Amino acid sequence: MQQGPIAVFDSGYGGLTVLDKIRQHLPQYDYIYLGDNARTPYGTRSFEVVYEYTLQAVQKLFDMGAYLVILACNTASAKALRSIQQRDLPHIDPAKRVLGVIRPSVEFVGKQTISQHVGIFGTVGTVQSDSYPLEIAKLFPGITVVQEACPMWVPLVENNEFEGEGADYFVRKNINHLLGKDSLIDTIILGCTHYPLLEKKIQQFLPANIKVLSQGEIVSKSLSDYLYRHPEMEEKCSTGGNVHFFTTESVEKFRQTAGVFFKGALNVEHLSL
Ligand code: DGL
Repeated sequence: MQQGPIAVFDSGYGGLTVLDKIRQHLPQYDYIYLGDNARTPYGTRSFEVVYEYTLQAVQKLFDMGAYLVILACNTASAKALRSIQQRDLPHIDPAKRVLGVIRPSVEFVGKQTISQHVGIFGTVGTVQSDSYPLEIAKLFPGITVVQEACPMWVPLVENNEFEGEGADYFVRKNINHLLGKDSLIDTIILGCTHYPLLEKKIQQFLPANIKVLSQGEIVSKSLSDYLYRHPEMEEKCSTGGNVHFFTTESVEKFRQTAGVFFKGALNVEHLSL
């Protein structure tokens, strides 16, 4: 039986927050991580472009031996996942799978909210796609969803400014906007790979009764459930605990910045899409 690593894809570094948690929960598997750092950010790009870039990445990861690709990027999950699953996978290889981060987050939030009012922080692209409200409406039609795009949060994290005072201003501003739209929110999804790094600040400026959900934990538990429910996929995932990183940008740059997102040794190679 042929086996391959589990692939985790992101537009850049942020998906490392998700990979970090996945590895903590499922250390036995091999992983490859691809960051499309040369073309990041995806959050401000059109549907067509995000779809095209994501499909290229998925095809490459399949060529590299993966049977299962996780789109850690919310923007890619929002704008490309459905088309890839429905239109492309049947032609590429029906035995391979691509999973995103939105569905598991939505399943989880439905169990967490008591007030039935949920907030979403995301990139402009994720918010404009309405993927969260649409998915939540399918599973939990009684929940009211309010979204807030936070275009400054990714650059703050990428530039290692997420602990500084500059971040306070933007975090407070977006929190106030969101709660101004709906004061009954009791649960918020951090719907972007980068936002877990701002979680401390977000907690600091939010009323204590509001729960903040980061996706690393949610996605890793959901992956673990998925592999349990799909033994035919689980047996295609190679074990050995190895992680290889690939970036479409410079290896040196990746090594320097990735340390902010991922604790552990970084075995990095360049890759062109
Ligand atoms: N990875 C993206 C996401 O989770 C954020 C960075 C970007 O805009 O590319 O939406």
